[in-house]
Amino acid sequence: MKKILVTGGCGFIGSNFIRHMLSHGKVEKIINLDLLTYAGNLENLADVEADPRYEFVRGDVCNFDLAAELMGRVDAAVNFAAESHVDRSIIDSSRFVRTNVAGVQTLLDAAREAGLERFVQISTDEVYGSLGPEGRFTERTPLAPNSPYSASKASADMLVRAYHHTHGLPAVITRCSNNYGPYQFPEKIVPLFITNLLADKPVPIYGDGANVRDWIFVGDHCCAIDAVLRDGRPGEIYNIGGGNERSNIEITRLLLAELGKDESMIEHIADRPGHDLRYAVDCSKIQSELGWRPAHGFTEGLRLTINWYRDNAHWWRRIKTGEYMKYYEQQYGKRRQ
Ligand code: NAD
Ligand code: DAU
Repeated sequence: MKKILVTGGCGFIGSNFIRHMLSHGKVEKIINLDLLTYAGNLENLADVEADPRYEFVRGDVCNFDLAAELMGRVDAAVNFAAESHVDRSIIDSSRFVRTNVAGVQTLLDAAREAGLERFVQISTDEVYGSLGPEGRFTERTPLAPNSPYSASKASADMLVRAYHHTHGLPAVITRCSNNYGPYQFPEKIVPLFITNLLADKPVPIYGDGANVRDWIFVGDHCCAIDAVLRDGRPGEIYNIGGGNERSNIEITRLLLAELGKDESMIEHIADRPGHDLRYAVDCSKIQSELGWRPAHGFTEGLRLTINWYRDNAHWWRRIKTGEYMKYYEQQYGKRRQ
């Protein structure tokens, strides 16, 4: 795929993916369509802005005419655009349905009209719901989304499946576990806790901190998407994960140790409503079919991430003002026990 439309490329994973594709020299052109919501940030791609292969277009994935025009200039599209934070979907899910469901339907129609060679939908392991202490999600695990966010992502997956089945659209779905790394908006646990600790502020753990996620370094996720874009089979789903399960309290202790802080920085607050207990992903399909494997160990990836936030304090300090602080108070103010 020489010319690619990336939607949502100014967010965390999308910006890492664009940098990955440009730096590996595999593309002639990348168009980045992004609405620049609170989570989208042009600074995330400041270092590639001048690359002649890169073009930014500010716009909405719900705008069919714009999406169809841009898709007419590329071979493939990778859709990262989404409302991505579970806690925000609990406060208000309307934007999640608009962007994550109606936006995907719009992109699928535009992809049909443009006759794209490949459409990659970036989904999530959260569509499978929650696991008990045993087992892992495979691509055949039934969908059982528990939050408004994961319900919107599962709805999009159903649309992608239907467009492949009905219209023969060459679409592929990836379902990845929790990412961490540079440029992640400091509302998700890893960047929130790192930046709070760097600013000598407490870290708010939901409930007892026993919930488990399967962590993957964002660069490893980008390599997996690259492989799926090139060689994934249309109509298929590929799980992606780090094979790296950690409870929230374990992650918190690691961060405290790396940043030279003690447990007095931990603040246990009221639990997330409907909080999924455990995610763990079986990635044997992408490993055997496409030869992908994560390259970063967790301690190594976490150190890279901590160093990035340390070196880029201007990036997160500018975000953690104004609207962000209002959100923080709304999200955390009433939950302190
Ligand atoms: P993010 O919130 O950092 O970025 C989302 C981007 O989408 C932002 O740049 C935002 O401006 C843009 N956007 C939002 N609404 C838009 C619209 N209507 N039109 C155009 N652009 C719009 O998200 P992220 O963490 O980078 O996640 C990217 C994708 O990966 C999402 O689809 C998410 O569901 C999925 N995912 C994320 C993770 C994770 O751990 N972060 C794991 C698995 C899957
Ligand atoms: O699994 C993939 C998903 O991972 C993606 O689809 C989502 O876009 C992404 O946001 C992420 O969802 P989570 O809800 O798992 O991520 P979050 O960082 O919000 O929370 C991770 C765990 O940490 C979860 O058990 C809740 C807990 N948590 C989170 C925050 C923000 C806390 O204990 N305190 C917090 O302040």
